[in-house]
Amino acid sequence: MRKHIVAGNWKMNMTFSEADELLDELMSELEKVTLPRDTQVIVCPPFPYIEMASDYANDSYFTVGAQDVSEHEKGAYTGEVSAAMLESCEIDYCIVGHSERRAYHGETDAQVAAKVDQLLAHNLKPIVCVGEVLEERESGRQQEVVKRQVEGGLFHLDANQIQQVVIAYEPVWAIGTGKTATPDQAQEMHAFIRSLLKEKYGAAVADEISILYGGSCKPSNAKELFSNPDVDGGLIGGASLKAGDFMGIVTSF
Ligand code: PGA
Repeated sequence: MRKHIVAGNWKMNMTFSEADELLDELMSELEKVTLPRDTQVIVCPPFPYIEMASDYANDSYFTVGAQDVSEHEKGAYTGEVSAAMLESCEIDYCIVGHSERRAYHGETDAQVAAKVDQLLAHNLKPIVCVGEVLEERESGRQQEVVKRQVEGGLFHLDANQIQQVVIAYEPVWAIGTGKTATPDQAQEMHAFIRSLLKEKYGAAVADEISILYGGSCKPSNAKELFSNPDVDGGLIGGASLKAGDFMGIVTSF
């Protein structure tokens, strides 16, 4: 059965000492609860804190992810971080194609696909973000947009490779806005994404792939969102910066 996942995306937040404090709090909170065995907690801090997070991480509590990766293997790409580097730091997951990368850095589906390839070649699991902007939803084009992102970023993979991927549906109009998709809107899109996977890879493969919801997910709405059959957890931004809020979501299954 596919995993339940709650992944915290810290984005560009926290100083070193704040990160240390948050990880310490998270660690002690996680020690107090027994999570179902199929639940995976992932923390994606900024690159400078990856090593610190890894020191805190213990497989039974949480695992560490990066927020982005270069589409290139190695070389003269100042400021970039490669999948080989992440692999050598024993990082397990990496977010790719976040809407902020797509919007502010012009990341295309082809670049998302290249990053996914880099990660898989280095034994990391990509968390691939897809989602429409408000205008696309208001004009009823959300499925068309998400279909293009899923196909463009992922459909060059074979059936074994796609099973290493986690998909995060993040409607852009819900990210950091306090406006959450309704549980029905989330379920509808998640079921649509799974139907695309089913058509391409078959039901058995599609059933194995975790599809997370992201966008103003918080302790007060996580339970209802996660209770949908095709919502396998969440990618959490703002609420991952407070141990109490993040734990409220982690314990929502
Ligand atoms: P948010 O961000 O929870 O702050 O809306 C989610 C995300 O961007 O991954």
